[in-house]
Amino acid sequence: MKIDAITIFPEYFAPAQLSLLGKAQGRGLVELQIHDLRSFTSDNHNTVDDTPYGGGAGMVMLPEIWGQALDPLLISDSDLIILTPAGSRFTQKMAEDFSKSSHLVFACGRYEGIDDRVRQYYSQSQFAKAGVRVHEVSVGDYVLGGGEVASLVMIEAITRLIPGVLGNPESLTEESHNSDGYLEYPNFTKPQEWRGISVPEVLLSGNHGEIAKWRKLQAQERAKKAF
Ligand code: ADE
Repeated sequence: MKIDAITIFPEYFAPAQLSLLGKAQGRGLVELQIHDLRSFTSDNHNTVDDTPYGGGAGMVMLPEIWGQALDPLLISDSDLIILTPAGSRFTQKMAEDFSKSSHLVFACGRYEGIDDRVRQYYSQSQFAKAGVRVHEVSVGDYVLGGGEVASLVMIEAITRLIPGVLGNPESLTEESHNSDGYLEYPNFTKPQEWRGISVPEVLLSGNHGEIAKWRKLQAQERAKKAF
């Protein structure tokens, strides 16, 4: 999978070189390229934003700069993801769908966001025909300083679903059972007793049927508490 992210803060993406995602890049499963939006400016101040038409607080990112950055990337089959707190909520199902894409482009807005004509322009039928799909996505019901951290969240959740990225693909099968509305059950490892708290007896029983039943119940209990 090819992933492009456009940002005015490329350094935000340093953690993408670590752990599973770093390894996935080393093994050629993921090709991640970070683009500095300011490199597409042509004025002395490298301006990327201006005041909003109609007035109001904050600044809006200039469509021309975004057009310069996006045009060379959106040439064929691609998902353009515009990060905004006003977007559709990112879910595990969305991560599964995006993990089947061959090319993701993350547009990381800052300030009051990107001029809406950028979304409109790349949603037009000529881009749709070329295989461009535009999504506005939010990672949660809160406002971040920009789309960089939100992109990292999405990239991590999506890339671990690409076949070969996870060391142990069985953990994905277990998860898919859990994503039927249950959160995961609690886990325990050695020692059998820690600071007076023992591992639940059933997990030591070797009875796989009983263990599965217990875990399902625990996951249901957790799910009840979570919502
Ligand atoms: N930009 C600012 N807040 C955001 C959020 N919650 N999700 C995605 N992008 C954002």
